[in-house]
Amino acid sequence: MDRIYIKGRKTLSGEVEISGSKNSTLPLLFSTLLAEGSHTFHNASQVKDVDTGIKLLQSFGCEAYWKGTSLTVIVPDKIENFTAHYDLMRTMRAGVLCLGVLLSRYGKAQVSLPGGCAIGTRPINWHVENLKKMGAGIEIQKGYIYGKSALPLKAAQIKLEKPSVGATQNLLMAGVLAEGRTEIQNSAREPEVVDLIHYLKKMGADIEGGGTSTITIQGVSSLKPSEHTIIPDRIETATLLMAGAITLGEVGIFKCAPSHLTQVIEKLEQSGFDIQQGEDRIHLKSPRKFSAVNISTSFYPGFPTDLQAQFMALMTQAEGESIIEECIFENRFMHVPELMRLNAHITTHGNKAHIHPSPLKGAVVMATDLRASACLILAGLAAEGETYVRRVYHLDRGYDKLESKLALLGADIKRI
Ligand code: UD1
Repeated sequence: MDRIYIKGRKTLSGEVEISGSKNSTLPLLFSTLLAEGSHTFHNASQVKDVDTGIKLLQSFGCEAYWKGTSLTVIVPDKIENFTAHYDLMRTMRAGVLCLGVLLSRYGKAQVSLPGGCAIGTRPINWHVENLKKMGAGIEIQKGYIYGKSALPLKAAQIKLEKPSVGATQNLLMAGVLAEGRTEIQNSAREPEVVDLIHYLKKMGADIEGGGTSTITIQGVSSLKPSEHTIIPDRIETATLLMAGAITLGEVGIFKCAPSHLTQVIEKLEQSGFDIQQGEDRIHLKSPRKFSAVNISTSFYPGFPTDLQAQFMALMTQAEGESIIEECIFENRFMHVPELMRLNAHITTHGNKAHIHPSPLKGAVVMATDLRASACLILAGLAAEGETYVRRVYHLDRGYDKLESKLALLGADIKRI
């Protein structure tokens, strides 16, 4: 099994380009099922989760091929298989997004309950309850969601308890072919939701309010395939910025979207880093020392939970004690014991972690989930000596050649 080897304490410098967003590519992949024909996505993310998403589409009878980073999906006029099998769904939670699509276009779906990162229970009750409101009959048995609906689905007034990204995306894709006007209140505002809306509109959907807390969808009778350029990956962007920061380096990040990272940039600035932004680039210059700052994760535009672990790695090297509060997932501190193996000094109380500065020392550590793997790599970059990060299949699920990009910036890192 692959491991990542890092010899720490190399100051990063140079420039690197960002890949397309994984969390945008996945819902866009499933949206193709809404219209037969050829859909093309430029700047698509080439990570393992996307491969799994493509396999799922292929299991429904679609074809897919890559040309560079452009991905074309060809959806047949008829689909014979409506089952998303456990084998494909167990590693990739986003697969549940095919539920709304299959129900709204074909009136049936049998979707395995999703897997994904072990960061909490991650229920899908808001997806299911609201699809039922739209007229779908849904039962959960033996680990599968069985859905049936008369076509078209019916529009509904929906109020989400919290602005769930996945529930908003699932209900959006169910609403575009439903009869009437669906309103999703307390909808997620993440850039990946907005990107999906952009593509659905290109396909002919009638949607208003993307990027706000209320989305309205006037159902249409059919959609047609289109072409789209996917937004840059904001989590990869910030991970690379923090890699520059933790090594007290100076890095330029290109082909990114700084406007999607306002909170993160603010926190890095508060900590003492000098950040210059252009429309699609960010330049980070480190001070000689940087200070501790506190963060609380929250829904967009707040500090993303997907960057909590990486920021914690950074704070182990700050001057002073910082407090990190995780408000989205109930079990997202699994990287803490691994960071402590690298000599970090962290105490946790419920959903709060107190990070006391301490010099990091290389060790063998194990990635417990996708973003935790990046956190350990960042810690390894700052640690004295050699670090080995095991279980890098988590990393490969969601980062596009992270170690090559870090090597390009001067890190002593390799996959072995
Ligand atoms: C998406 C992202 C993930 C990110 C998360 C939060 C993708 C593929 N994944 O995940 O990287 O960490 O947003 O920004 O885009 N919840 C319920 N019931 C539901 C749905 C959600 O209780 O039916 C809860 C979850 O357990 C969690 C919170 O709502 O506590 C937010 O989850 P959600 O926004 O749905 O996350 P995902 O869409 O799964």
